[in-house]
Amino acid sequence: MPDENSTTATAQTMKAVRIHNYGGPEVLQYEDAPRPKPQAGEVLIGVHAAGVNPIDWKVREGHMKDFWPHKFPLVLGWDLSGVVEELGEGVSRFRIGDEVYSLPDPTRDGAYADYIVVRESELALKPKSLHHIRAAAVPLAGLTAWQAFFDTAHLQPGQRVLIHAGSGGVGHFAVQLAKWKGAYVFATASTKNQDLLRELCVDEPIDYTQQRFENVARNIDIVLDTIGGETQERSWSVLKKGGNLVSLVQPPLEEKAKELGVRVALLGVQPNGAQLAGIAKIIDSGKLTPIIDRILSLSEARRAHELSQSGHTHGKIVLRVKNGNGTTERNAR
Ligand SMILES: NC(=O)c1ccc[n+]([C@@H]2O[C@H](COP(=O)([O-])OP(=O)(O)OC[C@H]3O[C@@H](n4cnc5c(N)ncnc54)[C@H](OP(=O)(O)O)[C@@H]3O)[C@@H](O)[C@H]2O)c1
Repeated sequence: MPDENSTTATAQTMKAVRIHNYGGPEVLQYEDAPRPKPQAGEVLIGVHAAGVNPIDWKVREGHMKDFWPHKFPLVLGWDLSGVVEELGEGVSRFRIGDEVYSLPDPTRDGAYADYIVVRESELALKPKSLHHIRAAAVPLAGLTAWQAFFDTAHLQPGQRVLIHAGSGGVGHFAVQLAKWKGAYVFATASTKNQDLLRELCVDEPIDYTQQRFENVARNIDIVLDTIGGETQERSWSVLKKGGNLVSLVQPPLEEKAKELGVRVALLGVQPNGAQLAGIAKIIDSGKLTPIIDRILSLSEARRAHELSQSGHTHGKIVLRVKNGNGTTERNAR
């Protein structure tokens, strides 16, 4: 990436990581970009940290181009924690200086930047117990787990759930939220992540490199499929009648579901400030905590994408945009 000190952001500009075309990590450009202005109902946030999710590299590679009307140059990254800097007309629930976190609309410019404009409805005050780096790890993956279990599958206390990739970004929130609700949790990960599954209080950790999960997890009410392919195919057999297969990655076959008497859904996570406010309360009560695989600086976005794309990080990768003392990471070196 270009030297981050080669140009200076002004009141009209900012530093951002953008793409000008689809491609590999090399298309990520750390560069000057126009600073956005909030319109009615929107809020300008000074980004302190941006979470990294697989959707970021999927957008970068063009996998979403038939679904989302992105325009180039595009700022990537749809997970953030930061401070309210400016209010658009009609915004009433937030004030300048509020510390907030958000999953912003992924069809618009993202959070790999000094500033982002977010709709008021997509924002919540960040958990008080977390600094910005850890708060930025929460929104997208936390809301995905929340919407999968509570909006889609209506998880009840005592139900048995199987979470594929319990050590991943979504999975580690899913495990904790399922336990919070009183579920009995099976979760898969490879050998190196078995300790993590135990720390998360998974009732039956499964090492998918050593065991077939269907030999351990049976009579399951809800399967959370974060993997697809063969993993989804083998998941049908563990479901009890009336159970739910919720996939994040691949639509499960409706005919197969009918045949087995189970329900299926393909979830697309939606921004939701009200749900994020609820999640912040659970975090502040000590019942939910984000796990960070690694913190990188904004100018290291390429490295972050390579790691995310490996499919074997644990918890979350977060990009630091601004340091706690208010200086940006590039100036603090
Ligand atoms: N539809 C939506 O709205 C939505 C929302 C969020 C995410 N997603 C998608 O859901 C998927 C998961 O997202 P994420 O953020 O959780 O990804 P992630 O953090 O990159 O997941 C990494 C984890 O997956 C585990 N893993 C890899 N292969 C596995 C396998 N065969 N069985 C069990 N675990 C395995 C790895 O554990 P080991 O290293 O131990 O193997 C690692 O901890 C991505 O494809 C993402 O795009 C969709």
